[in-house]
Amino acid sequence: MQEARSPLIVADNVDYTLNVAGRPLHILRKVSLSVARSEVVAIVGPSGSGKTSLLMLLAGLEQATSGKIRVNDHDLTALDEDDLARFRRRTLGIVFQSFHLIPSLTALDNVGLALEIARPELSMAQVRERAARALDAVGLSGRLDHRPTALSGGEQQRVGLARAIVAEPPLLLADEPTGNLDQKTGAAIADLMFGLTRDLGTALVMITHDPKLAARADRMLTMTQGELSETLVTT
Ligand SMILES: Nc1ncnc2c1ncn2[C@@H]1O[C@H](COP(=O)(O)OP(=O)(O)OP(=O)(O)O)[C@@H](O)[C@H]1O
Ligand SMILES: [Mg+2]
Repeated sequence: MQEARSPLIVADNVDYTLNVAGRPLHILRKVSLSVARSEVVAIVGPSGSGKTSLLMLLAGLEQATSGKIRVNDHDLTALDEDDLARFRRRTLGIVFQSFHLIPSLTALDNVGLALEIARPELSMAQVRERAARALDAVGLSGRLDHRPTALSGGEQQRVGLARAIVAEPPLLLADEPTGNLDQKTGAAIADLMFGLTRDLGTALVMITHDPKLAARADRMLTMTQGELSETLVTT
């Protein structure tokens, strides 16, 4: 039963401090956060407040200085590099502001490669079939053989989205996914992202500067100078 399951993300009292030129730089302070399975959470806040840093910790790409982070019942503070890599392959999709597609690969191969890494047990035929299906889901069935330079920004982000969800992870992390797109294209990407995560039951943690986008989340959190607080959404 869905209700009885543990939250997908539990961060408890997380500090993230870097040593910069011999002095501690406090990037996150006592951050606590709980995200339910299939929940959509928006994180807003000024530039430099620590939003991307929090996403990096949730992805296991950086280590918290203190505190606990559990994602999908994995204690990220206790995993070694190999286990973290396995955790990322199995649990996460990430969408970046600047797409980060591999320039030499076609749309189909960009998505297929991500799936191959996440699910090495699949045959090449299965990988191609599922990658094509994911690209179809983002409206790009006519662009399978295009390389990123032959795609518009919105199309590149569609490929980025297809790549992030092709292995059907329980969690999608998005760092300003519409930040490099015009209003109309960004809205279309947002519609796709919300639709796909809802259909797959994927939880979504999304950083955005766009208040309209943030208002579509189940919850909105605000990062201010490394401290995270709940913001009441009035709809
Ligand atoms: N590796 C690092 N070394 C030194 N300082 C860092 C490092 N990574 C992040 N910071 C600092 O941590 C703070 C938070 O950065 P972060 O990228 O998390 O902010 P953000 O909220 O995502 O900002 P933006 O909205 O501009 O993307 C910034 O002041 C940044 O300069
Ligand atoms: Mg950022």
